[in-house]
Amino acid sequence: MARILITSAIPYINGIKHLGNLVGSQLPADLFARYMRARGHEVMFICATDEHGTPAELAAAKAGQPVAEYCADMHAVQAEIARGFRLSFDHFGRSSSPRNHALTQHFAGRLADNGLIREVTEQMIYSVDDGRFLPDRYVEGTCPNCGYDSARGDQCDNCTKQLDPTDLINPRSTISGSTNLELRETKHLYLMQRNLRDKLEAWIDSKHDWPLLTTSIAKKWLNDGDGLQDRGITRDLHWGIPVKRGDQPWPGMEGKVFYVWFDAPIEYIAATAEWADANGLDDAAWQRWWRTDMGAEDVTYYQFMGKDNVPFHTLSFPATILGSGEPWKLVDYLKSFNYLNYDGGQFSTSRGRGVFMDQALEVLPSDYWRWWLLSHAPESSDSEFTWENFQGSVNKDLADVLGNLVSRVTKFATAKFGAQVPAGGSFGPMETALIADLGARIRTYESLMQAMEVRKAAAELRAIWVIGNEYLQAAAPWTVVKTDPEQAQAMIRLALNLIRVYAILSQPFIPDASATMMAAMGSEDWTWPDDLSAAMRVLEPGQPFTVPENLFRKITDEERADWQTRFAGVRT
Ligand code: MF3
Ligand code: ZN
Repeated sequence: MARILITSAIPYINGIKHLGNLVGSQLPADLFARYMRARGHEVMFICATDEHGTPAELAAAKAGQPVAEYCADMHAVQAEIARGFRLSFDHFGRSSSPRNHALTQHFAGRLADNGLIREVTEQMIYSVDDGRFLPDRYVEGTCPNCGYDSARGDQCDNCTKQLDPTDLINPRSTISGSTNLELRETKHLYLMQRNLRDKLEAWIDSKHDWPLLTTSIAKKWLNDGDGLQDRGITRDLHWGIPVKRGDQPWPGMEGKVFYVWFDAPIEYIAATAEWADANGLDDAAWQRWWRTDMGAEDVTYYQFMGKDNVPFHTLSFPATILGSGEPWKLVDYLKSFNYLNYDGGQFSTSRGRGVFMDQALEVLPSDYWRWWLLSHAPESSDSEFTWENFQGSVNKDLADVLGNLVSRVTKFATAKFGAQVPAGGSFGPMETALIADLGARIRTYESLMQAMEVRKAAAELRAIWVIGNEYLQAAAPWTVVKTDPEQAQAMIRLALNLIRVYAILSQPFIPDASATMMAAMGSEDWTWPDDLSAAMRVLEPGQPFTVPENLFRKITDEERADWQTRFAGVRT
């Protein structure tokens, strides 16, 4: 039994995530966590909400709520939706937790003690009417290059020129529209990542098994242009983790907070501490997952994220960990994803384009979405959601292939032999061949799941369902029963056992349908079919079973057209 630590990139608190966000981190992480548990490993699966930063402050203001209250509410909303998608986190934490405050301040203190923090005085735009410094993208004005009148302080969207907010002509605050802006001096802490460059490079170079997408992004940031830049880790905001040096005040940094990207990944650790607290456990209980001096040397740590998050996880967060000089666990394997597009364009949170997690669950149960998203995960390239494709996958894979097998077998068996596993006959050459074929495919499925080859694993699982159908087609118990009822009973006994094995194999992808299948077979034995021949005999003659409710329904053309229109436009 191995110990497996799994983290999913933590979603921003503001707003409900769309399906593209879901398939880029939380859902594949859940697939892997479920699989690893099913194989009997000890798993710690962590996620949280990413609660700090200007977007959270502005969203709260827009909602007319104090930011702490807004975050508490939105955390509850996201937690509920995560349950709806059956995301099996061991803990869904909050980056605003006291645990994260303490740990973030601890790391900053260690980095300072190790000479890796320098103070930088800079000029920043201060909005007198808003009573705050403005981050670059919250300043707008006329582009000095092309004259576009809504250029942002970091970049002109019209001519793409990179800008400094001080370059803008007639600058204004996007928060209030105020033009009463001035330059003020402010002091910030910089993490001297350059000093850690060689250590980071050696560490990345040691990761021979990382996917190309991950290492190429990391390398690009290490080597491009002037290479790894020192990075500001503090901000002039109210909402965030107060800048402290461990538990001591940090002279000159009063009223400032840590930058959201500094504290967010630390929340992976903090959320594990929150898990321990929530379960009445002591510090040793979470430290054995994170501290190599406290038992974490035999933990394998997997991270899941979208490709835009890779630089932060291959460079910035490791710089925090390495720079601390303490024995914290670094990631062992980083699985990153491309983007999922929506129906000929992009998902857009700001424009409300695409399907959002709450809406998806209003339309269909989570298994339908889980299956489509995972079987089309954007791994080697971006992928695209279309309603036609979704309808096709659901109707074929789930309804025709899997659902149909389950209902055909259970209905026929009940009608002919009653609601117990029939006792007659014994497995013949066809059954033996099926077991051999299936056994080989299960080994392939296992190695794809272990390698986090999500799409390929889904394809293999589907193939596993298909060969069950092919067997039934060829064996035709409904015909055989007329001439050789004993043999037909053996076939049905095999098929009922097959349903139980399918429940186990499919559980990481479609947990609800799997639970229904297992319950219908009257079993609670989720033991992984290492020995398939034995697994196909677990349901013994006489074992009662039931005909489950239709596992999956088909999506009609009307529904498809209706949803297509409904989700094309602006979310209200
Ligand atoms: N909230 C970020 C995003 O959605 C991810 C933060 S991941 C962490 O892109 F490592 F910083 F926690
Ligand atoms: Zn311009």
